[in-house]
Amino acid sequence: MKILIIHGPNLNILGNREPEIYGTRTLDEINERIREKAAQLVSEVEIFQSNHEGEIIDRISESDAAAIIINPAGLTHTSVSLLDSLRAFRGKVVEVHLSNIMGREEFRQHSLTAAGADGIIAGFGYKSYILALEALVK
Ligand code: DQA
Repeated sequence: MKILIIHGPNLNILGNREPEIYGTRTLDEINERIREKAAQLVSEVEIFQSNHEGEIIDRISESDAAAIIINPAGLTHTSVSLLDSLRAFRGKVVEVHLSNIMGREEFRQHSLTAAGADGIIAGFGYKSYILALEALVK
């Protein structure tokens, strides 16, 4: 089973970015944990990060993966186009967030993109990605 992992805008600067909210692990470190878990679960992962909405949408529409785990980051709260592209994707979609968006500022408490997902996992730091992998594979 091939799973596409997508990290949205500003997740490339994890480690330095508001560590009290997002933790001190860098994106490379998180990706390493994701690869380790995927290897245990015997699933193949492809990992992609972009700060550009259109690049993320292109990647989704071109993907032959069976499932997508996506942290849309700021696009969660703004992007109808990303919602449309998740809806058009034929496989399973899990939306993840490092922080618990429901416990944060009001504008973060609504996810536009979640309507294009089969499920959401938020608030467990990098483990949100690990839980999403387990949910998809098990
Ligand atoms: C985030 C939450 C979003 O509100 C924020 O814009 C992000 C990260 C998270 O993982 O907690 O960039 O998606």
